[in-house]
Amino acid sequence: MANLWGGRFQGAEDEQMKRFNSSLPLGKRYWKEDITGSIAHARMLGACGIISKDDAESIIEGLKGIMADVESGALPITEGEYEDIHSFVELNLTRRIGEAGKRLHTARSRNDQVAVDTKLYARHAAAAVEDKLDALCTALVKAGSDNPCLMPGYTHLQRAQAVTFKHTLMAFCEMFRRDKKRLNNAVELMMEDCPLGCGALAGTTHPIDRAMTAKELGFKQPCANFLDGISDRDYLCELVFDFAMILMHLSRLSESVILWCSQEFHFVTLSDAYSTGSSIMPQKKNPDSAELIRGCSGLVYGSLMAILTEMKGIPLAYNKDMQLDKRAFMPALDDTLMCLEIMRGIIATMTVHPEAMKKALKSGFLNATELADYLVKHGVPFRDAHEIVGKAVLLCEDKSCAIEDLPLEELQKLCPAIGPDVYGQLDYERTIRLGNKAEML
Ligand code: ARG
Repeated sequence: MANLWGGRFQGAEDEQMKRFNSSLPLGKRYWKEDITGSIAHARMLGACGIISKDDAESIIEGLKGIMADVESGALPITEGEYEDIHSFVELNLTRRIGEAGKRLHTARSRNDQVAVDTKLYARHAAAAVEDKLDALCTALVKAGSDNPCLMPGYTHLQRAQAVTFKHTLMAFCEMFRRDKKRLNNAVELMMEDCPLGCGALAGTTHPIDRAMTAKELGFKQPCANFLDGISDRDYLCELVFDFAMILMHLSRLSESVILWCSQEFHFVTLSDAYSTGSSIMPQKKNPDSAELIRGCSGLVYGSLMAILTEMKGIPLAYNKDMQLDKRAFMPALDDTLMCLEIMRGIIATMTVHPEAMKKALKSGFLNATELADYLVKHGVPFRDAHEIVGKAVLLCEDKSCAIEDLPLEELQKLCPAIGPDVYGQLDYERTIRLGNKAEML
């Protein structure tokens, strides 16, 4: 394995230790960010006269060449050969351009290098998640608009009041809208301070221009503190928390979808594309897609615990524990992206059954609150109205009928204020247009 160190070593590294220590398997995902950071660093070294303009130019050209070759596949990032992505880039650079390549790491440490790579990667990762959140919301809005029907709304998983199917789906859009904002906030905070130039932990004796690299890489300013700059991973914790929150929301949506496609509800049918069958029961069509999303929420919560625990005992400044941040962050990112995509597919392809929803509305007295509202509008105090309607429900239970099936005389026996217009107030399609309920349409 080619290393960036070794001068003070006499013995060889244990083979298993090499594998244990290598961060390349996940770190190679930073290849673009590592090269981008290195280009900014080389340009600054040249501008500040720390290396010659010629060396800076050939380093930048060499790095661009590596970028193009990794992109095209001509230069594979082979695991086992390099300790980390920084070693891969620097050693390949020197192989290409010779002596000048060895000057790239002047006034820099892998500690500030990986800190800047991680931030740049996290920024792209958050943007990718935001795109998937948008795509899912588009699918939710479309499914809601394409199916303008009423359904039972639930509290305690008991039928409560009528709501529109669209309003139900839009509830999830609100959660995802907040998730997007949360990601934006985390990225904004993260991109305030650039860690490049903090060195290993104590800056450098070279007259570097940290403001120049910070600006080129899209940060507001250089970090104020070297020790914190290289060892800050707050933003990863925050982003993994944001992913965990997204998965919590996705899991709630999954749970609804799973209930809706059960025979007991039959509000929706999932497309074959997002269902699977049973190896023994030929009739089964299972909502595995939604169940897997619900299951992934547990894994992402695990990543959040992992990264918080990873960081809590680390003395200043860099410690190798921090290299494991990738093993918490990247699987959580992958699961989040995958679950958002799958959920978009589930929603975009499911069939909605408005008749089944309508039928479910008919039993369970979901218009009881609306009847109480009617009484209030006829001068009955709400607490009394609540009591009267409770009696009406008891009567209906006795007769096995709905409130709107009771004849006017029966209703008037319960409360003389009731007139024939009560049936309008008991009609779901009509009451959904009253008061602020119309906002659900
Ligand atoms: N390989 C490390 C990582 O990917 C960066 C190197 C940190 N510095 C060090 N002295 N080992 O997080």
